[in-house]
Formats: sequence, structure tokens, C-alpha cells
Amino acid sequence: MAKKDKLDAIELLKKDHREVEALFSDFQKTSGEKTKEKIAQKICTELKIHAIIEEEIFYPAIRGKVDDDDIDEALVEHDGAKVLINEIESSGSKSDFFDAKVKVLQEEIEHHVKEEEKQWGSLFSQARKTDVDMDALGEQMAERKAELQEQARSKGLPPAKMATMEQA
Ligand SMILES: [Fe+2]
Ligand SMILES: [Fe+2]
Repeated sequence: MAKKDKLDAIELLKKDHREVEALFSDFQKTSGEKTKEKIAQKICTELKIHAIIEEEIFYPAIRGKVDDDDIDEALVEHDGAKVLINEIESSGSKSDFFDAKVKVLQEEIEHHVKEEEKQWGSLFSQARKTDVDMDALGEQMAERKAELQEQARSKGLPPAKMATMEQA
């Protein structure tokens, strides 16, 4: 067996989850407005990229091989989070409800991550049992992620696009 030096699809997504959890925890520990603004913007960028690679690559690859209702629910949860993400990005720390928006986003993401990877019968545990090549998928996702990170650095990403509902 070839030596494994790259993350497979599920490992990559879990790593993203841990990174964003750490950012939320940094945000909660910070009091300076400027730093909070910076962390919040980073959270939004990371979550937008994560949602894109799940929606474009991961979910379609496992659809039909897992409980598809769980994918539908995940997509609606993504869209719920995107409303807050786009709002936080556009109004930032100047909004009276800035802290509350970030807190609610954190709670939504915690719930979503639990359903994806932490609870019994999670989406990722279902995905693990399929015949999908998670190494190949991980590679494809890592490439797309790098491309989106580069876009975020150079010209910024557009607001998150809804997958299941009218643009809010
Ligand atoms: Fe995820
Ligand atoms: Fe997700």
C-alpha cells in the first residue's frame, strides 16, 4: 500500500471543522473590536470555502449511497448559516447585533458539525461505509479548496450562494 501523506475527504472536512471551532473559540476569548472583526471575517471565509467543497464535491459524491434526507437537511442548514455569514461579512462589527450574530452562527455550526461527524449514524460515518474512493475525493477537494483560498486572497470571494432557497 502506498504511503498515505494526503488527507482523505472525511479527514479534510474534519480538519476544517476543528479549525473553525478554534476560530470561534478565539473570537469568544477576544475583546478588542478590531481583532474580533478580523476573526469573524476569517470564520466567514473558511465557512464559505468549506460549504462550497461539500456542496460541489462531497455531497454529490455520496448522494444516493447514504440517507439522502440527511444531505437535504445539511444543505438547508448550510443556507441558514449563509444568511448569517453574508450578513456578518457585509455589516461587520459595526452592527449592534454583531456578537449575537457570530454566537448564533457558532451554535448553528456546532449543531451541523454534530450531525455530520459526531452523532450516531452521522453523515460521515454513513459516507465511510460507501464504495466512494475517499482518497481520490479528498484530492479533488483539496485542489478546489486551494483554488478558492487563492481567490479569497487575491480578489475576495463573492457572498455565499444559497443552494436550497431564494437568495436572502
Ligand atoms: Fe462540514
Ligand atoms: Fe456541511
